[in-house]
Amino acid sequence: MDKLIVNGGRRLDGKIRVHGAKNSVLPILAATILCEDECVIRDCPDLSDVKSAFEIIECLGGSVGYDAEERTAYIDTRNICRFEIPDRLMREMRSSVMFLGAIIARMRRADISYPGGCELGARPIDLHLKAFRQMGVKITELYGHIKCCADDIKPQRINLLLPSVGATENIMLLSATANGTTVISNAAREPEIADLQRFLNALGADVSGAGTEEIVIRGVKKLRAAQHRIIPDRIAAATYMCAAAACGGDILLENVCAEHIRIVISMLEDAGCKITVNGDTLRITRGEHLFSIDRVKTLPYPGFPTDAQAPFMAAMCMAAGTTMFIETIFENRFKHVGELLRMGADIKIDGRVAVVHGNGGLLGAPVTAADLRGGAALTAAALAARGQSEIYGISYIDRGYESIESAFSRLGGDVIRVSE
Ligand code: UD1
Repeated sequence: MDKLIVNGGRRLDGKIRVHGAKNSVLPILAATILCEDECVIRDCPDLSDVKSAFEIIECLGGSVGYDAEERTAYIDTRNICRFEIPDRLMREMRSSVMFLGAIIARMRRADISYPGGCELGARPIDLHLKAFRQMGVKITELYGHIKCCADDIKPQRINLLLPSVGATENIMLLSATANGTTVISNAAREPEIADLQRFLNALGADVSGAGTEEIVIRGVKKLRAAQHRIIPDRIAAATYMCAAAACGGDILLENVCAEHIRIVISMLEDAGCKITVNGDTLRITRGEHLFSIDRVKTLPYPGFPTDAQAPFMAAMCMAAGTTMFIETIFENRFKHVGELLRMGADIKIDGRVAVVHGNGGLLGAPVTAADLRGGAALTAAALAARGQSEIYGISYIDRGYESIESAFSRLGGDVIRVSE
């Protein structure tokens, strides 16, 4: 098992390029199944979750080539002939549920095991399944399996109870080739939804409205090959920015879409960081002082992203003053707090609220990541802390960050990966 060893207390200075967005590439890889052709996906990040998605495509009968140097994936879905996702892959990556809509659309049936709970809490998929049923998919849930079949997909108006990112994407995938028009209201507005719309339209689909609360999908008969470049990973960018805020320094991030992290930028500015954006590069400088923020409340886009809550908390541990975090999206997203306490942080939790009294005095300690963004937050905290930290559970971090140790090393951090 790998771990990270971090010698903290150094400023971060330098330049790195942010990789393509994990949360964008996963539904886009699922979308390739809709066409019986070859697709080229550029800026496809080298992440363990992406490798799991490749395995799913291969299990279904497709073939995948990946040029890791160029970060380009070549996906051939002409020979897709199966409709099951093995239990192992469903367990490895909860987002494999993203493939459900695309498999049903292509094969008229699907058989997957129930993704179940995950490190962030229960994470039900009831909204996905309710929408599918409304669209004529017959679903049997038995012995932990979900079996779906549909002779015909019946486009509908779907009113989502919550603007679920995954449910919005799954409905878009199911309806892109259905016979008629599907309207999703109360749709999620995340930038990754707009990226999926761009890819579907490049395939020849007719989707509009992504980025607003109403998405209209006019089904088309057939899709064709397409090339697509994945948008920059806004959460990876936010993580590196929070690390710079925690450690102090001056870093330049390339391949950033500032529009997608407007709220994170403005909150880090309120905390005393200087941020300048020039095209797709972003420079963040933190001088002598970092200040607390009154409250950080996670909300669906364009609100503060739940995925940036943990990295931002690591930064606020180093700020002067008190910050209140309110987590409204997931019920179990404070697992990093216990580990930050081991590093000397002063944080109190009450349900979905965490109150951080920044004391600027984190100390290195052995800590364990319990989820992806929490693991990244611990890495940022360890870089800011005095002394040495060991970070365990880093397979979580590898799901969403390309070699986090190389990225931080390039910024002057002292972090290495060792295998035990
Ligand atoms: C996606 C992102 C994840 C991010 C989250 C919220 C991917 C691969 N993952 O996850 O990084 O943190 O959006 O921005 O893109 N819910 C239900 N029933 C459902 C579906 C969702 O109750 O059928 C609830 C969830 O439990 C959660 C909330 O809705 O409390 C938001 O979930 P959702 O937007 O669906 O998140 P994901 O798509 O799973």
